[in-house]
Amino acid sequence: MIKPDGLSGNYKEKIKEAILGSGFDIIEEAVVHLDAERASLFYAEHADRSFFNSLVKYMTSGPVCAMVLESPDAISRWRNLIGPTDARKAKTSHPDSIRAMCGLDSEKNCVHGSDSPQSAAREISFFFRDDKSEALEHDE
Ligand code: CMP
Repeated sequence: MIKPDGLSGNYKEKIKEAILGSGFDIIEEAVVHLDAERASLFYAEHADRSFFNSLVKYMTSGPVCAMVLESPDAISRWRNLIGPTDARKAKTSHPDSIRAMCGLDSEKNCVHGSDSPQSAAREISFFFRDDKSEALEHDE
């Protein structure tokens, strides 16, 4: 997922170039503006964290671009490509990563990646119905 700062900073095409250049196929893509209820649901596992309210505010500040990426070892390869959560660390430890390119700090880190096959399945069904003929409400 490209987060609101990634889209508002006009990084979408650069991020997609990095995705395709790394050998992923983009098999689904949708721009969606989450409301507070949907953003809270997406990040429900972080509901007890001190940064949760701020995270929800950030994630509802503009549209996001959800994508389904396909490749062998997609989860670990994507997480490696985006770099560490804290974009400040990414700039030193993973200078070629996407978060180094467009992230700001540990919250505004411009992209998200599922951390397991289970969370990928949940997050894909959050944005995309199994039945493609009944797409969820998308901005584009
Ligand atoms: P993401 O990889 O999408 O998963 C959870 C998100 O919570 C994370 O990216 C950040 O946007 C945010 N986050 C994680 N840690 C912190 C933190 N310490 N302070 C603020 N936001 C955080």
